[in-house]
Amino acid sequence: MIISYLARIVLLLPELSSGETDRLAEIAADQAKEEQFIDYAQPFLERHTTFRPYGSKPRHYDPIIEHPIPPNPQPTGPCQVINETSRKDLLTKLFGETYDKNNLPSANSTEVIVELTVQSITEISEFSSSFKADVWFSQIWRDPRLDFSGQNYCIKNISLAAHKLPTMWSPNVCFVNSKKVEIHASPSQNILLLIFPNGTVWLNFRVSLIGPCKLDLTYFPMDRQSCNLVFESYSYNTAEVRIVWRDWEPVSIPDPDSKNLPDFELVEFKHLNATLVYTAGLWDQLEVQFTFRRLYGYYVLQAYMPTYLSVFISWIAFWIDTKALPARITLGVSSLMALTFQFGNIVKNLPRVSYVKALDIWMFGCVGFIFLSLVELAVVGFADKLDAKRRRHNRSFGRCKEQMMMRSDSEQQWLSRLSGQQRPQNSETSTDNTNHTVQINDGNGHLRRRKSEEKRQKLLLQMEHPMFVNGEKIDEISAKLFPLLFTAFNIFYWFYYIGMSGGFFSK
Ligand SMILES: *[C@@H]1O[C@H](CO)[C@@H](O)[C@H](O)[C@H]1NC(C)=O
Ligand SMILES: *[C@@H]1O[C@H](CO)[C@@H](O)[C@H](O)[C@H]1NC(C)=O
Ligand SMILES: *[C@@H]1O[C@H](CO)[C@@H](O)[C@H](O)[C@H]1NC(C)=O
Ligand SMILES: *[C@@H]1O[C@H](CO)[C@@H](O)[C@H](O)[C@H]1NC(C)=O
Ligand SMILES: *[C@@H]1O[C@H](CO)[C@@H](O)[C@H](O)[C@H]1NC(C)=O
Repeated sequence: MIISYLARIVLLLPELSSGETDRLAEIAADQAKEEQFIDYAQPFLERHTTFRPYGSKPRHYDPIIEHPIPPNPQPTGPCQVINETSRKDLLTKLFGETYDKNNLPSANSTEVIVELTVQSITEISEFSSSFKADVWFSQIWRDPRLDFSGQNYCIKNISLAAHKLPTMWSPNVCFVNSKKVEIHASPSQNILLLIFPNGTVWLNFRVSLIGPCKLDLTYFPMDRQSCNLVFESYSYNTAEVRIVWRDWEPVSIPDPDSKNLPDFELVEFKHLNATLVYTAGLWDQLEVQFTFRRLYGYYVLQAYMPTYLSVFISWIAFWIDTKALPARITLGVSSLMALTFQFGNIVKNLPRVSYVKALDIWMFGCVGFIFLSLVELAVVGFADKLDAKRRRHNRSFGRCKEQMMMRSDSEQQWLSRLSGQQRPQNSETSTDNTNHTVQINDGNGHLRRRKSEEKRQKLLLQMEHPMFVNGEKIDEISAKLFPLLFTAFNIFYWFYYIGMSGGFFSK
């Protein structure tokens, strides 16, 4: 621009008087200032809006040849300072008789840039499977009819009040999957409407919305929830309006504190785009997905810790005397009761899903352990009963055994006396020859001795056997086995589910 002015000055120089030259120099200086101002403003503009240079093709779609609008003549001279009357004139000219809000900005499809800034996310509800958020939502498009760059005003934009919005064309981009959306009115509607000299319109709303979440409680309470918002132009299909995400930072959350809810943490958000086929034609769709991770500290304190106590209490029974059955049963049953009560309290605040949650598996595991400890109690009681029975038998058997022992002893003595020194103690190890002599010598006596010995062995076995199913022995084994199995269950459970949740410290 400066160069063109300088060129003009150089060309005109010979014909100009010195006064006129001074004036032209002033104009050039003004223009340079103006340029500088734009340079300063540029970074700010880029932070808030990115516009495609007029005439370039939209990048992501099929080539669309732009509507050839004659470019406004380059403004000459210093810019006009705008005052009330000229502003009013400008608006009446822009939204005059030629402007019809029912007409599209151009014959070709209008590209609408969408941007979303999340102010805060306040709530995620399992019951309604939804989330609540306050967002700033921008739509930016270019309407060549509102181009006033030819006027050479000193303003970079004109901001209009919200009530102007119904009188102008807008692409009508909306949240198509929201459950409820409200434009904040604090006290008047929070709508920003800016028109730039080149006809670019920036429309921004501050809305409070309730959006849907895909509720999946399989890993509850180590779960992640995914919520999404879908944008579409409600009125216009792809032939009229194309909606695209802004090139840079289409979705942003400036305040890091707003990512943390009391029981959830926003771990990820991503933006997607698609073109959908409806009966009314093709529609552009933009989607933003938020992924939240549940902070399960509450459940560790309120659900897991008490169940640990319940399970531990049920093990105390293993150290109590096997004869104190009532005490042992009370321990088992009361811990089972406490556990079911705990579980009921937690589940009460959740939707009634019909699949198994991680918490259910935990609860079933713990109930199983307590139930097994009760079963162990029954086994101990039964073993003791058998033991007592056997002991009663053994008392009568004992007498009989003593008699047999005595008899066999006397038999042996008698036999040894009969056979003298040459008689072997064990008939099996003896040679055929000696066996023969013994059999000849002893006859019936030897056979009787062998039979009685077998009987004695059997009796001794019977005597020893009850030692294995003693109640105390079972308790001893259980006191080691139960904690061991429970530890194994814990290791599997926590590794699996914390792995699924993305680890203790993952972000
Ligand atoms: C319109 O003007 C704005 C602000 O001056 C600028 O950032 C943008 O690139 C322009 N858009 C076009 C299409 O020229
Ligand atoms: C875009 O507009 C120009 C001029 O009006 C027209 O020639 C061209 O066919 C249009 N392109 C499309 C894709 O409609
Ligand atoms: C506003 O500016 C125009 C020229 O740009 C001038 O004619 C008019 O007198 C000004 N009005 C006021 C109230 O300053
Ligand atoms: C709007 O114009 C004012 C000056 O008129 C300028 O300070 C401001 O940065 C402009 N806003 C945008 C978004 O371009
Ligand atoms: C989504 O956007 C990308 C780039 O932003 C583009 O390449 C792609 O074609 C778009 N997809 C659809 C289905 O519009």
